[in-house]
Amino acid sequence: MEAIADAGLARSIGLSNFNQRQIQRVLDNCRIKPANLQIENHIYLQQNGLVKFCKANGITVTAYSPLGSKGIEKLLNREVPDLLDNPVVKEIAQRQERTAAQILLRHLLQRGIATIPKSTNAGRLRQNIALFDFELTDDDMAELNGLDQNVRICDFGFFPGPPDTMEPVSTALVPFDAAGTAATGPFEGPSTLICSWKAAYRKSRKAGALHQYVSRNGAAASIDASTAGR
Ligand SMILES: NC(=O)c1ccc[n+]([C@@H]2O[C@H](COP(=O)([O-])OP(=O)(O)OC[C@H]3O[C@@H](n4cnc5c(N)ncnc54)[C@H](OP(=O)(O)O)[C@@H]3O)[C@@H](O)[C@H]2O)c1
Repeated sequence: MEAIADAGLARSIGLSNFNQRQIQRVLDNCRIKPANLQIENHIYLQQNGLVKFCKANGITVTAYSPLGSKGIEKLLNREVPDLLDNPVVKEIAQRQERTAAQILLRHLLQRGIATIPKSTNAGRLRQNIALFDFELTDDDMAELNGLDQNVRICDFGFFPGPPDTMEPVSTALVPFDAAGTAATGPFEGPSTLICSWKAAYRKSRKAGALHQYVSRNGAAASIDASTAGR
């Protein structure tokens, strides 16, 4: 990835689904610091320790699944919590005269986290970017902060990854520790940089295991472990 950046083909290097220990390993060995970490983040998985660590190291954070990824249920074959239906969120939405989605997204922004909600609906897309003409009060923020349950929705259990590179993933919601992704969580494998995961996937499949791909190519060319089994 550093060679790609040196060649002017990438402006920045990003990480996804890294825990604190994995980021530290990158920081200890890199020449070009990662610019951003993309992780699951929402009211039920606030990952404050990990976010704080990133900020202290000049790494911006992007939240995926900010609205709780309801659409992922079919893929996971299980129910996921409905963040938009949370009574605290709904009450704040009513008081602020905003939608529940706008409250969830604004909460992330006020925590200093960028976010990438997805919608297939033009009206909801417009709604999801109309976040800059209102502000959550300190009380609103405290209430939303208090909803953290350390519960992960997108646990990647649907990827049949090589068993020696992915930690076992529960079919239930996976709790994680306060420092971010737990050491025993599903991302303990050699997860790494957002790059051409398709190429890495092809190679990892050919090699039979992601760690072989990583060891042959070095950490800088590896890939998010969550997609390794695809
Ligand atoms: N790096 C990673 O490992 C990783 C993992 C997961 C996801 N991501 C990325 O993160 C982004 C978002 O993830 P996501 O789609 O899973 O989660 P999400 O944005 O939390 O949820 C999307 C779901 O919410 C609905 N929705 C969107 N806006 C809404 C609104 N205003 N009111 C009510 N429902 C609304 C959408 O339905 P409609 O389409 O019907 O509006 C869709 O079902 C995507 O770009 C995804 O690729 C990255």
